[in-house]
Amino acid sequence: MRKKVTVSSLFVMKEKKEKIVALTAYDYPFAKMVDESGIHIILVGDSLGMMVQGESTTLPVTMDQAIYHTRIVSKAAQYAMVVGDMPFLSYQTGKRDAIANAGRFLKETGASAVKLEGGAAVSETIKAITKASIPVQAHIGLTPQSVHQMGGFKVQRDEERLINDALEVEKAGAFSVVLEGIPPQISAKITSALKIPTIGIGAGPDCDGQILVLHDLVGINDGHLPKFVKQYAQLRKTALAAMEEYVKEVQSGDFPSEEHCYKP
Ligand code: KIV
Repeated sequence: MRKKVTVSSLFVMKEKKEKIVALTAYDYPFAKMVDESGIHIILVGDSLGMMVQGESTTLPVTMDQAIYHTRIVSKAAQYAMVVGDMPFLSYQTGKRDAIANAGRFLKETGASAVKLEGGAAVSETIKAITKASIPVQAHIGLTPQSVHQMGGFKVQRDEERLINDALEVEKAGAFSVVLEGIPPQISAKITSALKIPTIGIGAGPDCDGQILVLHDLVGINDGHLPKFVKQYAQLRKTALAAMEEYVKEVQSGDFPSEEHCYKP
């Protein structure tokens, strides 16, 4: 059996220049597949709001919902490290709330780390949570919880601010940092300036690892896809075709046939 991925194994991977692969998941059957595939980190992202709950932003996701989904994902993860994503307003309201909510992920779900959004502005919060022995993954650049402040989901190009944010979250004790929506040249500079691994999404090839949203990768949702997404499958198409076939067969009387009926 493979040894479970830990914070230390991620540092070793950075040192050896082995790429770290991360993906989101929100439920047991998909988390089981993600884990079996050899992916190193499963993030139970607050993208839950947009991928599973039909919301237009991540803001409505609550702590209880995040805990519920992280717990079922953790049950499936034998190999991958599970990271719980701290929802909007679960850490911005003060260090005490931040430690208590981050602690819930470790106490109640089996996750071994949490992720939160923000750079220098949240460095004191990161310090407080890591002091409580809870590993923190930071997230800078395009931070979806700040969608209204950013005026939309926009690529971030302020190099000086981004590099400062990255250095500050590392100094505060983050074990890793997600770089989202950043031009590759800036991500490359950040990656070589940091000792902790950078995990990119829409941040080019030079990060220490990559993360994608599960539903984008396997093609579950219809509608707009960001430029950085590569769809490796078209599950929506396949599932929809199966459902349409089922409708036809029930209406025509072809299903259930004898092979799907119990013997007298
Ligand atoms: O919530 C999420 O899925 C994320 C990733 C996009 C990094 O934060």
